[in-house]
Amino acid sequence: MSISHDLCRSHSRVVWPSILSADLLNLREDLNQLTQLGMDTLHVDVMDGHFVPNLTFGPSLVQQLRSQTLFNLDVHLMIDLESPLIDAFIKAGAHHLTFHVEATNHPQQIISHIQGQGLTAGLSLKPNTSASSLLPYLSYVDQILVMTVEPGFGGQAFMESQLGKIEEISAMINTCGRSITLAVDGGMNAHTIGLCARKGAQAFIVGNGLFAGGRAQFPNNYKQLLQELEA
Ligand code: DX5
Ligand code: ZN
Repeated sequence: MSISHDLCRSHSRVVWPSILSADLLNLREDLNQLTQLGMDTLHVDVMDGHFVPNLTFGPSLVQQLRSQTLFNLDVHLMIDLESPLIDAFIKAGAHHLTFHVEATNHPQQIISHIQGQGLTAGLSLKPNTSASSLLPYLSYVDQILVMTVEPGFGGQAFMESQLGKIEEISAMINTCGRSITLAVDGGMNAHTIGLCARKGAQAFIVGNGLFAGGRAQFPNNYKQLLQELEA
């Protein structure tokens, strides 16, 4: 089942949990709860210590998530794209790969390569990158991921300065006429999701607002928090 299909089906705001902020020693238990609550997509942040100043997950985690869970795996690559790692994530079983427009001079070829392997492809942009940098790729890409924090770490404050860009990209997508998922990543909570949804965003990546809040406020029960986020 594709991510876009899920979006069409839901007709509402969609929350994609980011496991960057999860309690990794309790990951299986938390993922089971998210499944029981109807969540079907997981956001997996991949950082290489070069494109961003942090290190996170590799293909082996994606492979385990693919073989041991039923989640759609939305993999966000914050990596140097000259590396051969894209193929490693494809082989590991990712359903969707998003990469950064700032990380390569050849976005078009990378989009084609990903789609040619049967995955959907997304482009992300950092807060200081203009919406117009996406224009050449709107005829091809499946998802746009707007960063509303500087990529690299969870738990940062949402940058309201990005709301205008979300609105601009939403208008670009409407003009283009293709079905492109507009997702937002960074500092998402019930309030900021509302702000972004009003500008046309459809999918919301939630790390700290779900896992940290979930653990602290609703131990072993995400239901209330998810209802609030998806209201
Ligand atoms: C940041 C990552 C995000 C991160 C968001 O570079 O791309 O996906 O998990 O975390 P929160 O929701 O805590 O801002
Ligand atoms: Zn991310």
